[in-house]
Amino acid sequence: MKRKVVGLAALAAAGALALTACSGGGRGGTTSETTGAAGFPADSVIGVSLPWLGTQNWKEADEMFTAQLTDAGFSPLVQAADNKVPQQQQQIEAMIEQGAKVIVVGPIDGTQLSSVLESAKADGIAVIGYDRMIENTDAVDGVVQFGSVRTGELQGQSLLDGLAAKKGEPPYNIELFGGGPADPNAPNFFSGAMSVLQPKIDDGTLVVVSGQTDFTQVATPDWDNAKAQSRMDSLLSGFYSDKEIDGVLSPNDGIARAILTSAEQAGQPVPVVTGLDAENESVTLVWNGVQWSTVYKPTDALVGKTIELIQALQKGEALPAPSETVDNGKIEVPVYALDPVVVTQENAKEVFANDPTRLALLN
Ligand code: BGC
Repeated sequence: MKRKVVGLAALAAAGALALTACSGGGRGGTTSETTGAAGFPADSVIGVSLPWLGTQNWKEADEMFTAQLTDAGFSPLVQAADNKVPQQQQQIEAMIEQGAKVIVVGPIDGTQLSSVLESAKADGIAVIGYDRMIENTDAVDGVVQFGSVRTGELQGQSLLDGLAAKKGEPPYNIELFGGGPADPNAPNFFSGAMSVLQPKIDDGTLVVVSGQTDFTQVATPDWDNAKAQSRMDSLLSGFYSDKEIDGVLSPNDGIARAILTSAEQAGQPVPVVTGLDAENESVTLVWNGVQWSTVYKPTDALVGKTIELIQALQKGEALPAPSETVDNGKIEVPVYALDPVVVTQENAKEVFANDPTRLALLN
C-alpha cells in the first residue's frame, strides 16, 4: 500500500468529485450520495465490527462504542470476530440485514472484506474504517486511526533513545519484531520504525545479530504473543548463547511482554523493549523500569472521532476534511489521523494526566 499525503487543492478536488457523485443518483456512489441529504433517523442501528478482543485497545473499543453510541441516541450493534475472517464477514452481513446505516470496521485482514462491503455500499450504508485501513475496495468512506507510520517512527526513535540511556556506548545488539501480517497497520508500523533504524544499522550503531530485517521474517502471525515468545526463544538460543541482547523493537505491548519474559527465562539482562497501546500491564512495567516504552493511542479519542463522523452522516452533512488521503489500492481514502505519543517512565505522569485509570497505575 502506498501512503500518500495530498494537498488542499487535491482535497478540494476530491470534495468536488463527491458533490458531483452526489447528484448522480443510483447505486454504488459516495457517502454523500448513499446517505442522502436528509441523513438517517437519529436512533438508527450503527454496526461496529472489531477484529478480536485480544489486546486492551479492542476491549476498550468494544465497551466505549456500546456506551458512547447509546449516549448519542443510536442503536449500537457491536461485535468482535475472534481473528477469523469468515466470522467478520458474517457479522457484517448480519449488520446489513439488520438495517445498519453506518458500519464501522476494524478489519482482521485489510484485503478480505471487499465483497461484503460492496454489498453494504450498494444498500446505501456508509463504511468507516476504525484503527486499521480497509484495502482494495472503493466501499470505504473514511478511516479513523492513529498515524500508523508515525507510530512506527516513534517506536524506532524510542528504541534508539532507550539504548543510549541504558546500554552505554554503541554498537548495540538488537532484534526486530513486527505485528500480524494481515493487519495493514503492521507493515506501516515496521516501515516507520525502519525509516529511523535502517540508517543506524547501515552505520554499524545497531547490529541485528540474527540478520532478520525483512517484515516477512519478523512478523508475528495473528499478533499472537505466544508465537512472538517462541520466536524470541529461538533467537536467544540460536544467536545469543554467548552474547547479550541490548534491545528489541516490539510492535505492541503484548509482544513486548512476551519478549521480556523470554529474555528473563534465558537469563539475559533486561533489554530495551518498545511497545504500543499503553496496556495497563505494560504501563506498570514502564513505570517500574522493566519495559522501556510504550506508545499511547487513547481509544476514547478514536471512538469519539468516529462518532463525530457518524453524527455528521446522520445529519446528512458531508464528512469533514480529512487530515490526509491514503491510496488503499483502489481509491484515495480520506484518513482522519490522530497523533500517538511515546510514553516512558520519565513522561508517564504528564501523558496520563487526563487518564485516571492509567494515572492510578503510577505509584
Ligand atoms: C492496533 C494495535 C493492536 C494490534 C493488535 C493494531 O491494528 O493498532 O493497537 O495492538 O492491532 O490487536
